[in-house]
Amino acid sequence: MKKISMLINARDRVSHINPEIYGHFSEHLGRCIYNGIYVGEDSSVPNTDGIRNDIIEAFRKIKLPVLRWPGGCFADEYHWKDGIGEKASRKKMINTNWGGVTEDNSFGTNEFFRLCELVGCEPYVAGNLGSGTIEELSQWVEYMTLEGGSPISEMRKKNGAEKPWKLKYLGIGNENWGCGGSMRPEYYADEYRRYQSFCKNYSGNELYKIACGPNSDDYNWTEVIMKNLNKYHTKGISLHYYTVPTGDWGHKGSAKDFDSECYYTTVSKTLYMDTLLTRHGEIMNRYDPDHDIGLIVDEWGCWYDVEEGTNPGFLYQQNTMRDAIVAACNLNIFNRHSKRVVMANLAQAVNVLQALILTEGEKMIKTPTYHVFDLFSGHQDGELVYCYCSDETAGKDTKIPMISSSASVKDGVMTITLANCSLEDSAEISCGLAGFECSEASARILTADVHDFNDFDAPERVAPTEYSVKLENGAVSAELPPCSVVCVTLK
Ligand code: AHR
Repeated sequence: MKKISMLINARDRVSHINPEIYGHFSEHLGRCIYNGIYVGEDSSVPNTDGIRNDIIEAFRKIKLPVLRWPGGCFADEYHWKDGIGEKASRKKMINTNWGGVTEDNSFGTNEFFRLCELVGCEPYVAGNLGSGTIEELSQWVEYMTLEGGSPISEMRKKNGAEKPWKLKYLGIGNENWGCGGSMRPEYYADEYRRYQSFCKNYSGNELYKIACGPNSDDYNWTEVIMKNLNKYHTKGISLHYYTVPTGDWGHKGSAKDFDSECYYTTVSKTLYMDTLLTRHGEIMNRYDPDHDIGLIVDEWGCWYDVEEGTNPGFLYQQNTMRDAIVAACNLNIFNRHSKRVVMANLAQAVNVLQALILTEGEKMIKTPTYHVFDLFSGHQDGELVYCYCSDETAGKDTKIPMISSSASVKDGVMTITLANCSLEDSAEISCGLAGFECSEASARILTADVHDFNDFDAPERVAPTEYSVKLENGAVSAELPPCSVVCVTLK
């Protein structure tokens, strides 16, 4: 047992936690959309307009705030006009990035907005800059947001959507340094400026335009983009960083079979997110000291070797308690950087990479990662407050801080989220509270062996339970078992 001292000062309000930090990503990749979220209206799986009801309900439960679509790499190959109108006559294409499968375009713009409406989340549309045209992107914006009076808006009406949708988040390209066109940042910045000029604000809709940002630690990309774009062109720039346990994209490591050293390197590589946000943030501060431009971490999560026997292009992987710790560490980091980070999107929502949800036919399970989003949902729209945690390390060869934490206050309720990242030691936490009066404390915990996961035979093997914490003399105390994630709520 290790003793940990914490101090939370609720008078010290650091920044606002935008709900979109708890955002998600759904690409036309493997079984994320097709045979995942979207089963079609004729499916025997209970659905609303082809969208699985159990998934809608699960997304609503965690207050899923924003969903990014249609990619990813797929976005820069996607031609939106192929995905509207009569389904039978929609043009087919080959999904060259993900398994070379035939895309029948039965899930398109109208279906995506219906999904967002059913979930109650903001849509985030990623436009095609890599292989599309300016006309195409500008007409897509028109289709989605112009009330009427043009052939494009009439086309939307003919397709059953009389009223335009509200679209705030518009990405202009994806990974244009890689799958989105292998561009240099100087070239991309010029392309971005042209493309964004023709994405107009129609009918009272105001776009929040997001430029393609850096891959991981490509600080030069951020520098060039910030130098060439300003708040009149762009509201956000994206950052992609994945946790790859081995650091080797050829052999990333298994989702389920790993030793404790591999676990500690996985968490250590996850914590590198903090360095990335700090360093990209420092570059952004030089050009944008007022924080007008947001950093959007629109792809993050663990990326392992695919599950044996599955299509290598489908990126299907299991999700253990290790992923829960990774999710908790990342979300605490995003909260702590919420002055600059205004959105983050886990890759991906269903059946792909570090998924929230896995499906098999009619069956659906919530992963340990899903439960972390559930435990952390109280932070959405809260005010991040000062939270100190004493240094204690975990791990043998690779050492990491033992505890990950953050705290926020909203409507007189304090949410404290903690992860005990040690596989060996419990943590005896004693947390002093300043500037916050409360008389009730409740908590929930997610804990299991680090290798445990949910599957279709044991869907609740890893699930949160009620937990007891003590509130005495203005301090909270709790005992966190090894490998656990805890949410404490104080009123
Ligand atoms: O999330 C999977 C892929 O990872 C996305 O399509 C791409 O943007 C990134 O490289």
